[in-house]
Amino acid sequence: MIFDTHAHYDDEQFDTDREQLLASMKEAGIGNIVNVGANMASSQSSLDLADKYDFIYAAVGVHPSDSAELSDENLEKIRKMSAHDKCLAIGEIGLDYYWPEPDHEIQKMWFRRQLQLAREVKKPVIIHSREAAQDTVSIMKEENAGEIGGVVHCFSYSKEVAQECVDMGFYVGIGGVITFKNGRKLKEVAEVIPMEKILLETDCPYLSPEPFRGKRNSSLNLPYVVKALSEIKGISPEEVINISEKNAREMYGLSR
Ligand code: NI
Repeated sequence: MIFDTHAHYDDEQFDTDREQLLASMKEAGIGNIVNVGANMASSQSSLDLADKYDFIYAAVGVHPSDSAELSDENLEKIRKMSAHDKCLAIGEIGLDYYWPEPDHEIQKMWFRRQLQLAREVKKPVIIHSREAAQDTVSIMKEENAGEIGGVVHCFSYSKEVAQECVDMGFYVGIGGVITFKNGRKLKEVAEVIPMEKILLETDCPYLSPEPFRGKRNSSLNLPYVVKALSEIKGISPEEVINISEKNAREMYGLSR
């Protein structure tokens, strides 16, 4: 079944119909979902969703754009939350230079500290990186992130950067952007990266695939991403689903 490795069902855009929507997943072929925290509050909400739904897992961590809320005390809270038995990863963490705030030095410090936390608690990381390829790869190398493992989610860089991440043992997260007319760069990434290193993700409510671009996204739209990948890879949609599900289980430690 389809494994959505990155979703935000705690988002207020789902407040009106969250229960019905999540109840419809299994019938639509969506097996598991990882709900990813982006700040202190949504990390806790992710755990709450994992408590409520057997097929949902959680990741806890603070997104670079919210990294100003981190402190030694809050990092300890993330560590405690990560001990939850359905918490599979630390994330999303990383660097986002698209927005001017917080200061890059603050983002870098908390990216490093959360990578170190992931190493200590022995969980993979979910990396968010936007317009910060060079600093992201440098910090990953300096922190020996290859030993930690994880995914660079919503991958937006060149095939060369993708190769560097894969060489470190990382997976590449691919979602709705692969269906966009202007998504050529990501299609090139999907061409060169082995299927064994690709994870399916929505990042919902954001980044709906065509033909729903701009509308609220959900895991129910992943078949459009599967179709695009199957065409690029020259394999059947079923193979895309099966291989990417196996990849997700391996990365998140569910296969052990
Ligand atoms: Ni996200």
